[in-house]
Amino acid sequence: MHANKQDRRDVDEALALYVHWPFCLSRCPYCDFNAHVRETIDQTRWRDALLKELSYWAGETPNRTLTSIFFGGGTPSLMDPATTGAVIENAAKHWAFDDDIEITLEANPTSVEAAKFVDLRATGVNRVSIGVQTLDNDALAFLGREHTHEQALNTIKLAEKTFPRYSFDLIYARPGHTVDGWASELRGALALVGDHLSLYQLMIEKGTPFFADERSGVFDLPDEDSAAALFDITQDICDQQGIPAYEISNHARPNSECRHNITYWEGGDYIGVGPGAHGRVTLDDTVYATEQIPGPVNWLDAVETSGHATRQRSPVDAETRVEELFMMGLRLTKGITRKVFWERTGMELEDALEPRRLRPLLAANYLVLDNQGLRTTVEGRLKLNAILAALLT
Ligand SMILES: C[S@@+](CC[C@H](N)C(=O)[O-])C[C@H]1O[C@@H](n2cnc3c(N)ncnc32)[C@H](O)[C@@H]1O
Ligand code: SF4
Repeated sequence: MHANKQDRRDVDEALALYVHWPFCLSRCPYCDFNAHVRETIDQTRWRDALLKELSYWAGETPNRTLTSIFFGGGTPSLMDPATTGAVIENAAKHWAFDDDIEITLEANPTSVEAAKFVDLRATGVNRVSIGVQTLDNDALAFLGREHTHEQALNTIKLAEKTFPRYSFDLIYARPGHTVDGWASELRGALALVGDHLSLYQLMIEKGTPFFADERSGVFDLPDEDSAAALFDITQDICDQQGIPAYEISNHARPNSECRHNITYWEGGDYIGVGPGAHGRVTLDDTVYATEQIPGPVNWLDAVETSGHATRQRSPVDAETRVEELFMMGLRLTKGITRKVFWERTGMELEDALEPRRLRPLLAANYLVLDNQGLRTTVEGRLKLNAILAALLT
């Protein structure tokens, strides 16, 4: 049975907040995030600007309840903890906080950043997501990381002592990665894991140094079959260890999923503050896609002169909204549930799916549609892009 109109309104009131910190100590050769290296950063100027833009978005979204805050980057562990604290404190003045609010900060595992953990915890951060990437020193050097195996271990141990929850990221399917090599690396890392783990296959992004290196044959990535075998062994090992995938690249112990990212994957409302931050927010029954100016200098100028640096705020039409819900929701192991789909659209899943497109995907055992909703099978999960193309275009 479905929730009524009043329940849909309650769901609309939940809001997540993303805050982007666009600076890093150095640029990793695989990364295409909005990240910049600067000799010095005027922390006070940046703090004031973030608070200004926060206040602008708060004015647009009154009477909402914040369910999560996520400081992402770049490297937000390079923020002055006083800046993190000021953002959280101001957010609490602007909106109600859900009792279980999740406040995550992405941290790189250098000793400088770990030294801030106690101060960050005192600001209200209750979860850290650490960019370990690998525990192998040679692989860390290949990935151009600033930290060593030992620093990663120390940072994880300190996170465990300091925060109620922590997660870390690993990158696999690196050049020359064998199933046996990755399996033993993953088993070693699982001994350190808390309630959550993100496992990404190395992606070669256009415009990065790795893009040029791969093209000119400096290294070769595992081929499609090897990448699939690496993905399969990852699922097997994590399932055995009680930390199954709840999303293509994200694993959690029961009830320990990242609440903030679930908001994205389930098509919930979030606002984005800081350079290049994106948002999806329902205002007067219309969902808007928002984006802030990406360049740090231009963002700062715009916020200082206009109070915010919004470069896009456009209504999302009904067809695009449905497509987005499938694109994001099918990343989740549980898929897109009937309940969530109805809450977002007021429609049954069948109303939005074309039988002639759906039927072959169900028959091929790539998708399942049942009382719970629509989801991929294990076979379908690795073919998600092709499935979405077949389902939606
Ligand atoms: C916002 S990024 C970086 C956060 C933090 N600055 C760091 O480097 O640890 C979040 C995660 O995306 C993953 N990532 C970034 N670029 C990637 C790529 N090209 N391929 C696979 N994973 C990537 C990394 O695991 C990284 O920790
Ligand atoms: S991977 Fe992290 S530390 Fe490296 S450039 Fe990207 S955001 Fe910065």
